[in-house]
Amino acid sequence: MPENEGHAKAWRNLYGRRRSHKLRAGQEGLMTSLLPALSVPGVRHDENPGRSKVDLGALFGPVEDVWLEIGFGGGEHLLALAKAHPELGLIGSEHYVDGVAKFVAAIEREGVENIRLHAHDARDLMDVLPDAGLGRAYLLYPDPWPKLRHHKRRFINPENLDQFARILRPGAELRVASDIPDYIRHTLQQVMDHGAFEWLAERSADWHQPWDGWTRTRYEAKALREGRRPCYLRFRRI
Ligand SMILES: C[S@@+](CC[C@H](N)C(=O)[O-])C[C@H]1O[C@@H](n2cnc3c(N)ncnc32)[C@H](O)[C@@H]1O
Repeated sequence: MPENEGHAKAWRNLYGRRRSHKLRAGQEGLMTSLLPALSVPGVRHDENPGRSKVDLGALFGPVEDVWLEIGFGGGEHLLALAKAHPELGLIGSEHYVDGVAKFVAAIEREGVENIRLHAHDARDLMDVLPDAGLGRAYLLYPDPWPKLRHHKRRFINPENLDQFARILRPGAELRVASDIPDYIRHTLQQVMDHGAFEWLAERSADWHQPWDGWTRTRYEAKALREGRRPCYLRFRRI
């Protein structure tokens, strides 16, 4: 079966690696046994062709709020959030299979119970999240797609900002971190042009200092090793 069958909309191309290594037997086992139980139901197009919205109450039970992280990579930030906030429900989306496999093993090892996953294209997940259902969304070190002809692949774009604006309730935050100055410029421009968010920065320290409770991600560690300076942007849904 083609890898995308039942998942992404036919007209949506998904760029970037889906896998690079063969999974170890233990990882394959967890992907078959645990991942289905952790996965947000009703995201796949073949199980929900009408695209009805996910019931977040049923997904998590009684939680104070639900936050989302897109492209969680190795999942270190998401895992730390979940452990620090047992009162929240956390949803993570990542289409890189190697990262998901390691993360599922970490969830089991740590006994964390408040994370649900979509191990494919986050855009399909956002389609079925309810209006104003989320209190926060993170997009950390998104793929920068530096070539001009690839800029349309950037996750921060008008279509995805429409979805963030729909699923985040007024007062909720969209948080974006990047070490690529052109991606920061791009994000500020796109978000300001969109109009549904205000940038929560008053002085330069606000975008040079990580947020309270920040956990360094693998890509941030790489950026720092290579001498690039991280930038942290907070936007509030108006
Ligand atoms: C540069 S990596 C950053 C990973 C992680 N956030 C970190 O800071 O270490 C970007 C990640 O976004 C994921 N990604 C890109 N587009 C995505 C999409 N449409 N849905 C889900 N994940 C996506 C990629 O697979 C990749 O793991």
